[in-house]
Amino acid sequence: MQHSNVTLKDQQLLKNFSYINGSWHSSANEISVTNPANGELVAKVSNAGIAETELAVKAAKSAFKLWSSKSANERATLLRNWFNLMMEHQDDLGRILTLEQGKPLAEAKGEIAYGAAFIEWFSEEGKRVYGDTIPAPSGDKRIIVIKQPIGVVAAITPWNFPNAMIARKAAAALAAGCTFVVRPATQTPLSALAMAELAERAGIPAGVFNVVVGDDARGMGKVLTEHVDVAKFTFTGSTGVGQSLISQCASTVKKVSMELGGNAPFIVFDDADVDAAVAGALVSKYRNAGQTCVCTNRILVQEGIKEEFTTKFIAAVKGLTLGDGLTEGVTIGPMISELAVADVNDLVKRSVAEGAELVLGGEPSELGGGFLAPTILTNVTNEMPIASNEIFGPVSPIITFKDEAQAIAIANDTEFGLASYFYSRDIGRIWRVAEGLEYGMVGINEGLISNAAAPFGGMKQSGNGREGSKYGLDDYMEIKYLCMGGLDK
Ligand code: SIN
Repeated sequence: MQHSNVTLKDQQLLKNFSYINGSWHSSANEISVTNPANGELVAKVSNAGIAETELAVKAAKSAFKLWSSKSANERATLLRNWFNLMMEHQDDLGRILTLEQGKPLAEAKGEIAYGAAFIEWFSEEGKRVYGDTIPAPSGDKRIIVIKQPIGVVAAITPWNFPNAMIARKAAAALAAGCTFVVRPATQTPLSALAMAELAERAGIPAGVFNVVVGDDARGMGKVLTEHVDVAKFTFTGSTGVGQSLISQCASTVKKVSMELGGNAPFIVFDDADVDAAVAGALVSKYRNAGQTCVCTNRILVQEGIKEEFTTKFIAAVKGLTLGDGLTEGVTIGPMISELAVADVNDLVKRSVAEGAELVLGGEPSELGGGFLAPTILTNVTNEMPIASNEIFGPVSPIITFKDEAQAIAIANDTEFGLASYFYSRDIGRIWRVAEGLEYGMVGINEGLISNAAAPFGGMKQSGNGREGSKYGLDDYMEIKYLCMGGLDK
């Protein structure tokens, strides 16, 4: 490939053109993909726009006929091939991901396995799209319910999981019998294009999986949300952007699913296993340098256990190694950009000005402007900027609370409702708190809840729809009711 500084075992995985209708499309201009660890150029990718997006929708529309008429078993075989190829090329895919996104290589390879797991899961689940028969109100009729693929699915996906967020959507869509067009984040297009190369090798027919890379977010977004041939739109990203995309979808009444922002509380009750809570908070907060929608955003600690938890948590966070994700032993990489670091630093500074205490980190990193050392703040209140905003960075604000009712009230005092976590060993409390939290996902004595078998999604302004699990296919299907009449003798 031209214009790249990346060496792989299989160099063909590095692509610099959009993938439309089974071919690679070049455009006049290029986008530079840079390594967040050092700002160096990773590769240049053709900059597609509205015309290519329209072409991709057209290709997906004409491929739908063939793809939706294949049997579930035929689709399963091709998806299984894709899964196998992703796992076979896990090292290269992980390397591409680290270079363009920054996360440590082990974590990047973990993301490839996580993304591939959705393809495996839905390759199997696609065979279990069951309908229903319903007793009819009169003897001369029968009621039958069938499920059918909705049509062309358009997706916009984020930079924080350049592989898994595409896999999670595309696997469900393709297994259901839909065709797919994705616009990946311009910071991380290489992972998406490598997935397209493997989809082609897997035998997935032309037009079924299309990737359009371009920096005209508004223009391309308009095509994907307003095109009459797109039946369903799915987005992972911020609540603000999600809200405007939903309104654009209104003009053609598209089915939408949205995986939006979060403000996850991580509650540690007096009766918790503190060491387990520290380990859970570490993974839930600092995974991907704090840049996930399900990352812990606020740690709520009950008064009686505050000293012990805070001391142990600071020691554990000090054990993280910040650096370039390709360096052996690094456990936390750079943030996506210097701008992202500046935004998080601003939340920290404003909260310190309001009385929060900086007990770890907070200073500029000698590694460069794209790095933010893991940071901990105590004496935080729920009203401070660091608690009321989605941080999306490696900062832990610690808030103390008196009792269970107060913990639930603080936890729910946000417009978000994606992930939440709590640690307790009291079975009664476990049920009360799990039921009281207004969140789509609750980790109970567990800090890592994402997997292909579970329904991922949020309540309130964190979105709608569920990804993964047996529920994940429904977002890509229509329920059709058949009424058979005239059955009297
Ligand atoms: C996200 O940040 O949107 C996804 C996180 C996950 O899948 O665990």
